[in-house]
Amino acid sequence: MTKIGVFDSGVGGEFVAAAIAKALPEDEIVYREDRKNVPYGNKTIAEIYAACRPVIQSLVDDGCQVIVIACNTVTTNLIDKLRDEITVPLVGMEPMVKPAAAVSKSGVIAVCATPRTLSSLRYKQLKQQYAAHTTVIEPDCSDWASMIENNEVDRSVIKQRLDETLQKGADQIVLGCTHYHWIEELIVSIVAGKASVMQPTDPVIKQLKRVLEQQL
Ligand code: DGL
Repeated sequence: MTKIGVFDSGVGGEFVAAAIAKALPEDEIVYREDRKNVPYGNKTIAEIYAACRPVIQSLVDDGCQVIVIACNTVTTNLIDKLRDEITVPLVGMEPMVKPAAAVSKSGVIAVCATPRTLSSLRYKQLKQQYAAHTTVIEPDCSDWASMIENNEVDRSVIKQRLDETLQKGADQIVLGCTHYHWIEELIVSIVAGKASVMQPTDPVIKQLKRVLEQQL
């Protein structure tokens, strides 16, 4: 049995932790979030680091042998620094720019993510490397994580932002924040017939299994 830590600022990671628990029923999943500081997506990188570092360390101290950073905001801004500092393997989650650009027929994709993910160097690199010939729309999702965290999802706000991306021709909608996994069905229902929705839970579980095989 392996002890697997899963971290996010809030409820987004709970979705991922539940999927990991289902995929790896023999292992122990320890989920930890940072209710005090959620949402991370509108904070500075320094603030996010100060908030997440002790919580991630507590997973190491509690004996987790691998930790899934179930947070695009932390992964895209801080994963290299955290990997330098943390003694156990870290599995990150970042927006699926590569697969979305690869399958898009219209050549237009939409990435739904927090402001801090969208401003990260890593995200810019992903776009340069994998979407140089693709138009990438970044709808304003700055209030989505809070809405989801507080269970106050306003369907009309989500619909309006998605309709704008559909009008611009997006045929792939990337969920680049784990909080949005909770409203995946709503998003699918809004864009049905016009666009597909992508989120990285399955690829992350595959990556986690690879890491477990290699490292443990
Ligand atoms: N769930 C996180 C992400 O994947 C962060 C949301 C937030 O705290 O703003 O980016």
